[in-house]
Amino acid sequence: MIYIFPDSESLARYASNLIAVTAQSCVAERGRFDFVLAGGKTPNPTYEMLARTMRERRDLWGNTHIFWGDERCVPPDHPESNYRAARLHMLEVLKIPPDQIHRIPAEDSNPAQAAERYGKIFPLRPDLLLLGMGEDGHTASLFPGSAALDEATKRFVVTPATVEPRLRITITPPAIAAAPTIVVLVSGANKADALRRVFSQDGDIHETPARLVRGAVWLVDKVAAKEMSISP
Ligand code: 6PG
Repeated sequence: MIYIFPDSESLARYASNLIAVTAQSCVAERGRFDFVLAGGKTPNPTYEMLARTMRERRDLWGNTHIFWGDERCVPPDHPESNYRAARLHMLEVLKIPPDQIHRIPAEDSNPAQAAERYGKIFPLRPDLLLLGMGEDGHTASLFPGSAALDEATKRFVVTPATVEPRLRITITPPAIAAAPTIVVLVSGANKADALRRVFSQDGDIHETPARLVRGAVWLVDKVAAKEMSISP
């Protein structure tokens, strides 16, 4: 399902509401919300909007556990850290209890071991998995041609990236497939060609990894959708 928004602001508003509604139903149902964050810059307006509009909802955020779909192999205070971005844009404002923030320790000297350990604490069926998409069609840190795209058992692995930072820990296809609700956020004209390739008839996840989640909920802005042939 693809939803196209006139601009990134309206996309962020819709996405933040969707997150809050999902949190509300999960907490009402089982007293907990397992929320997996996307990295990169696209989610930041959504994180900020959620923090700005929902900061009072202690009933939600006091029962929320935060995870990540991928992390760069840098320290947690590094400008390229996905954890740092989420902390600054959202987590500090929502006052998520620190022991409920499960960051990927990707700075570990043995990232393969860190990936394995993280896979063991990562929820089997996280309530909401947020993903982004790079202009080359990667998602999480599953880049075109990556061996991780053929990983069938491990849930998190170390993987090289074609852009800086060059070493990452990423969620794998089986772990993605286990998430009941996946939302992909895409914004910007530089994503238009990759978005077209995700939804074109023919194509392959090794060329365009985001095809892995074609069936997810896609929230895209108009400029990113400009090359898609949307039947009226
Ligand atoms: C990462 C992300 C990655 C991101 C895309 C898009 O760690 O980089 O997980 O998959 O979502 O690269 O990044 P932007 O949102 O910055 O364009």
